[in-house]
Amino acid sequence: MRKKIVAGNWKMNKPLEDGLKLATEVINMVKDEVRNEALAVLCTPFTNLYSVGKLLEGSKIALGAQNCHSKDSGAYTGEISAEMLKSVGVKYVILGHSERREYFKESNQFLAEKVNTVLKNGLTPIFCCGESLDQREKGIHFDFVNSQLTESLFHLSEADFSKIVIAYEPIWAIGTGKTASSAQAQEMHEKIRTHLAGKYGKAAQETSILYGGSCNPGNAKELFACKDVDGGLIGGASLKSRDFVDIIKSF
Ligand code: PGA
Repeated sequence: MRKKIVAGNWKMNKPLEDGLKLATEVINMVKDEVRNEALAVLCTPFTNLYSVGKLLEGSKIALGAQNCHSKDSGAYTGEISAEMLKSVGVKYVILGHSERREYFKESNQFLAEKVNTVLKNGLTPIFCCGESLDQREKGIHFDFVNSQLTESLFHLSEADFSKIVIAYEPIWAIGTGKTASSAQAQEMHEKIRTHLAGKYGKAAQETSILYGGSCNPGNAKELFACKDVDGGLIGGASLKSRDFVDIIKSF
């Protein structure tokens, strides 16, 4: 059975006190209301990880980070290593978010190195892929997403590949209020799974593929009902406890 996952990507929001308040609300609502098996993950800014991680102890919610460096340690001023994330209780790391690809020029090759480092430290990458509107309109969106997956993941052994979570996030849907329709999401998720199966065979049936891009309590149910959509990576709506928990309850 594929794991159902709803991961909140707080991005560069929530100073410590606000983050602790949000996490506390989510923990309490999840405890009181969530009866399904979905795994919730809170991907907070680095500065909140340790403290939010302490709050999450004993809850059913996992701690996630939004990025890490590819190297183990050393002279990389301002960077954070996978080992450091692990030391504060992180279990999941978002890699290759389109904002990092766009603003920080992260390439598929650099992301392949990050994937290796995250796996080596026993953490789970949430590997993001997704096309721009221009690529979709040109009809090259399937090829583009496949190349992101091939170039960053296809060097992995089957054992390592089986630890990866994928997040499909069409760039035109992120933070725009313009969600992919459930048909568009399902179509791409199925293409992704087929592409992964071409390399890893049956293991691809066990890969959780999350949808991200303006997912909210109003559309989550329909998206999550799609055969190949195994949950969501939630940006804006994860900053409101009520919305985020309602999304978790949408399975
Ligand atoms: P959004 O962001 O839900 O605000 O569109 C999703 C993401 O960027 O992970």
